[in-house]
Amino acid sequence: MITIVIGTHFGDEGKGKIVDYLARECHMVVRYNGGNNAGHTIITPQGKLVLHLIPAGIFNPECICIIGPGVVIRPGSLYAEIDALNKIGINLRGRFFISSRAHLVMPWHLALDELLDSKRGIGTTRRGIGPTYSDKIERIGIRVGDILLPGFKERVQKMFQEKSKFLKREYNYLITDELDEWLSAGEKIGGYITDTEPIIWKSVESDNNILLEGAQGTMLDIDYGSYPFVTSSSTTASGACLGSGIPPMKIDRVIGVVKAYTTRVGSGPFPTEIKGELGEIIRKKGGEYGATTNRPRRCGWLDGVILGYAVKLSGITSLALTKLDVLSEFKEIKICVNYRINDKTYEYLPFYIEKAQPVYETLPGWDMIENTLSENAYKYITLMEKISGTKVGIVSTGPERDATIEI
Ligand code: GDP
Ligand code: IMO
Ligand code: MG
Repeated sequence: MITIVIGTHFGDEGKGKIVDYLARECHMVVRYNGGNNAGHTIITPQGKLVLHLIPAGIFNPECICIIGPGVVIRPGSLYAEIDALNKIGINLRGRFFISSRAHLVMPWHLALDELLDSKRGIGTTRRGIGPTYSDKIERIGIRVGDILLPGFKERVQKMFQEKSKFLKREYNYLITDELDEWLSAGEKIGGYITDTEPIIWKSVESDNNILLEGAQGTMLDIDYGSYPFVTSSSTTASGACLGSGIPPMKIDRVIGVVKAYTTRVGSGPFPTEIKGELGEIIRKKGGEYGATTNRPRRCGWLDGVILGYAVKLSGITSLALTKLDVLSEFKEIKICVNYRINDKTYEYLPFYIEKAQPVYETLPGWDMIENTLSENAYKYITLMEKISGTKVGIVSTGPERDATIEI
């Protein structure tokens, strides 16, 4: 069974928690897009851990974890994660592989992200993601496999000189990063680098359970998201095939991870955003601060129009609903069922949503959720299913792995 797990909205839906839960029964988990702009939080027996690059299947010792070709990798971020996992006794040798085709985030990408975003105001994570993907498309990127080729260090040093000169000339910017992080890549991660395609294909042919772990969310997709307030990779299910090397016909199901309310980090349109006290209450209750940058996440009611869009775009076959516990004890809960723009009603997501006015249905709230769902919680789920045309298969009622109900 091959399953894609994606975020339905603006990221941070709880994909890490759901992948960790599903990975209990998986042979392999592959990350296929984005880089360390992602922050996937897992509650391990040793405490909370945020993974930025390594797949969330790593806590199942039987599970092979792969960083696929579609990912962009900052070496230092990866070293830190490997160290953190080793420290809590998780061994990666023999079950963690990095695709030689993945691209490297270089110091000049970090500098450019900083420089360009401070002018454009997208509110990127400043992890160099956009500039790295730009160079990939421009066909001037450096790939992970290059680390193992002769002359890698000299190539990096030469490019560093050239890029430093360019940044000084064009932006009067001095790169302060030390190159050691990049130059020591061979020694630090050389043993994990390989051609991942044959490993993945063998697993596909053996009919194993494979999970493809998406980063970000549908509305951050480079083609279908709220452009230009998006990330630079494909976050919909189609991106999973591209970024892993698994052909589309092999995919059995697509799980959309949807948070019971909607959040967004960074700038860009957010029709159901709640400004003021209620938004703050949800932020506090849900702990809505970025797992990567610690920025406060903007909070709002569940946007059902975006949910429907995500389902159509990715062919979502079931939903994993997270953070239902956070909405407990509210008297009333709203779901946006369509948009009004200039006196016209939209049930689908139109091109221009800057001026979209959400139209809500209001439902009664519920008390604290333990391990059973109350009638009112079910009413909420039923409305979500009606709007999206998809069943909810998993409900998460807490950050821990066992706070999960299959319905
Ligand atoms: P991801 O990027 O989609 O993996 O999500 P993040 O890890 O960035 O953000 C989700 C946050 O919600 C993390 O702090 C999780 O530990 C937490 N979380 C996940 N599921 C639940 C849930 O059902 N209830 C509560 N209260 N927290 C959850
Ligand atoms: P996970 O996988 C939430 C947002 C940034 C910014 C925009 C572009 O944890 O859900 P980038 O650095 O990618 O060029 O920033 O995308 N963003 C995310 N928001 N969760 C994420 O990942 C995100 N990754 C990027 O905040 O608005
Ligand atoms: Mg996150």
